[in-house]
Amino acid sequence: MKVLILGATGFIGFPAAEAFVRAGHIVYGTTRSARSAEQKLSPKEIIPVVADPSSEEGMAEWGKIAARCDIVVDALSANGAKTAIDTFHNYLQYVNRPKGSPKPTYIYTSGLWINSRGYGGLDKWTDERQPTSTYNEGVQWRPLIEIPVLESEKVHGIVIRGAVVYGREGSAVATSIFDRALEASKTEKKIFETVYQNESRVASIHTDDMADLYVRVAERGPLLRGQVFMASNQATERLTDVLDAVVRVSGCNGYKAKTPRSAYEEAWASTTLIKPSLGDALTGWKPKKMSLVDGMDIYWSSYLANKNLNE
Ligand SMILES: NC(=O)c1ccc[n+]([C@@H]2O[C@H](COP(=O)([O-])OP(=O)(O)OC[C@H]3O[C@@H](n4cnc5c(N)ncnc54)[C@H](OP(=O)(O)O)[C@@H]3O)[C@@H](O)[C@H]2O)c1
Ligand SMILES: *[C@@H]1O[C@H](CO)[C@@H](O)[C@H](O)[C@H]1NC(C)=O
Repeated sequence: MKVLILGATGFIGFPAAEAFVRAGHIVYGTTRSARSAEQKLSPKEIIPVVADPSSEEGMAEWGKIAARCDIVVDALSANGAKTAIDTFHNYLQYVNRPKGSPKPTYIYTSGLWINSRGYGGLDKWTDERQPTSTYNEGVQWRPLIEIPVLESEKVHGIVIRGAVVYGREGSAVATSIFDRALEASKTEKKIFETVYQNESRVASIHTDDMADLYVRVAERGPLLRGQVFMASNQATERLTDVLDAVVRVSGCNGYKAKTPRSAYEEAWASTTLIKPSLGDALTGWKPKKMSLVDGMDIYWSSYLANKNLNE
């Protein structure tokens, strides 16, 4: 297959691009930076497309390449519905396959906070068979892009909703927890501030496991159109267990609660109770990595190493 990853240098996009390469596919990846093209993408056999994906020029550039691909993955950083919708519409404008030929597949990367229902009993549980929720205000824009993708007539539209993604640079786990712990570890008190509630439970997934799901879903695109997959481990973890593990590996003495100051921070401390099963049922996908808490020593070391490399 020919695959185009929009946002191929990203926390999710890069491991996904690498996974497609390893699976034997021809992989194109966008980046705005010529340096990343040369140093990050090309060495990994990802064919760089240097373009700002949302500029007029960039859209024409990646649009032409997308038109030749069988799979297009939107793994760009989230910037509200408009950018994502413009990206999808740009793709649709360039796709022009002759009648009767196989349709290409478009995968939009979403987040599973759009399923959260908070902490509680069985009534709070969710999975791929359950409708979205209105619990987290900060992500109510997601359906605005998910629905047109899922209902598309022109392409096979599929959505992959990521849980909190961990590993490598750490992404939101780094900005919300690791960075704060690292900073605090250099102070006298060694106490970091972070947003949490005592009952918060986190659904999470390692970026490599999520990458594996993209490949499996993309390869079966024609069978899976209109489906939503949840990229999440089989069990959730208590956020305070994650924080305790960070205290242990960072040399901090503890943490204290910070009041959420944005819809994003509210969502960060919200509970998503989930046990996904559609990825396994339809593609045989099974996450393999240790959980965030269980593998914390590895994930903390990798975060520190990546931070040093990027400085
Ligand atoms: N990270 C998570 O834990 C997580 C969890 C669930 C869902 N998601 C969703 O997954 C998607 C991808 O997330 P991510 O964390 O992998 O993203 P990311 O690493 O922050 O960004 C992906 C890529 O987007 C490009 N980019 C960043 N800002 C841009 C801008 N202003 N204009 C154009 N391109 C820009 C960058 O490529 P260049 O700089 O090379 O151009 C970057 O490498 C988002 O929708 C996110 O909400 C993420
Ligand atoms: C969590 O529970 C402990 C013990 O009851 C309490 O001291 C602490 O303030 C609670 N934290 C939050 C964020 O509610």
